Amino acid sequence: MRKRLHEGLILLSQTISLETSDRLGSGVAELSAFRADDRPGWTREVFSEPYRASRDWTAARMREAGLEVHVDAAGNIVGRLAGRVPSAPALVTGSHTDTVDGGGRFDGIVGVLGSIEAARLLQDSGRQLERDLLVVDFLGEESNVFGLSCLGSRSAAQEMTREDLERRDYRGVSLGQAYTDFGLDPSRLSDVPWAKDPLHAFVELHIEQGPTLEKRGLPLGIVTAITGIERFIATFAGSAGHAGTTSMEDRRDAMVAAAEAVLAVRAEGCGAPTHGVATSTRVESESRSPNVVPSLVRMYSEVRSVDSSWLSGVKGRLTADIAAKAADLGVDVGFEWSTDNTVVQADRGVQDVAGAAADALGLPWMPIPSGATHDAVHMASLAPMGMIFIPSKNGKSHCPEEFSSTDDIAVGVHALVATLRHLDGADTHTSA
Ligand code: GLV
Ligand code: MN
Ligand code: MN
Repeated sequence: MRKRLHEGLILLSQTISLETSDRLGSGVAELSAFRADDRPGWTREVFSEPYRASRDWTAARMREAGLEVHVDAAGNIVGRLAGRVPSAPALVTGSHTDTVDGGGRFDGIVGVLGSIEAARLLQDSGRQLERDLLVVDFLGEESNVFGLSCLGSRSAAQEMTREDLERRDYRGVSLGQAYTDFGLDPSRLSDVPWAKDPLHAFVELHIEQGPTLEKRGLPLGIVTAITGIERFIATFAGSAGHAGTTSMEDRRDAMVAAAEAVLAVRAEGCGAPTHGVATSTRVESESRSPNVVPSLVRMYSEVRSVDSSWLSGVKGRLTADIAAKAADLGVDVGFEWSTDNTVVQADRGVQDVAGAAADALGLPWMPIPSGATHDAVHMASLAPMGMIFIPSKNGKSHCPEEFSSTDDIAVGVHALVATLRHLDGADTHTSA
């Protein structure tokens, strides 16, 4: 295995041009410069000013690469490379350029810059694809202040609901209003003609965001399934009182009930039989004074797994466990549960094609599940879907330390090009 890896990478390093490395390296540097300078890391959240400004840069980069660019009604930036047969269902690739608060420079960006570079390499090869290739920078993939991920791909897949648009952020602003303020019409989000046409396949290049590929010394992972995500907001209602005079046994302390719930969420993740993770990200108390027993506390949590039968039981188990612990403390609790996405399997045929493409390049790879969610989840309802992962240094992601080398990205781009070429001639719909 080590010998093949060595040979494959040497072979490929001879193919990777300096221009490709320069474009990928400068692309990461230039795009990362669009960031909120009052926040840590490389923060470029959906609907923010740095995000708005970065989109002109991305569209210009697509045009320079020879793509015909438009912004669709869902806010996705779409670059088209014309194929030989205009009526053939298109191939689609792409990812996102928004980041989480305090995030890094590679999550999503690699898939957008990598797809633009793939379109260039396909043109430079002088062999036109049969079908159109659409390179998409999907609007707002990261979960945001509205608690909803994958805004652009969700809309393209007709999966954005009226209730979703009524979600409110901490200031009381609705998601629909945020779209309007950004210059998009929330009543037209599903009016996306390219996504209504039959599509041949969707492939997303992405960083792994975990440690497995690096630990195993592998340059590529081919995704088998993408995690499902269940989220909830729990509101704990106890009773306010003087922190100096209310005895410990007389308290109905909402903060203590929330603390018990944080531990219950963690225990749920630790108890998953195969894959499961559970995280509480925020606990907010209405009480601002240091000398008042907290009476109203809100807690935000999520649970993820690629094991849909385990994940489907989470809501019942956690609701019962947290409510029982709160009742012992004399605290009432209410839950708002929402499914961000269910578990999605990658298409078997696309996995096989991507694996064969990597083999043809002499690049070793492994099948790998994704614990992060992706635009590919929603694209899977429109086309046979697959994903290609490249290694993440120390497995770090959603933090400033996130890193993948330009060489690793270039290897991923070549695997993407080979996969797109193979898919162009393959009948994906027999294996979907
Ligand atoms: C996106 O990266 C997510 O998995 O939340
Ligand atoms: Mn991502
Ligand atoms: Mn992310």
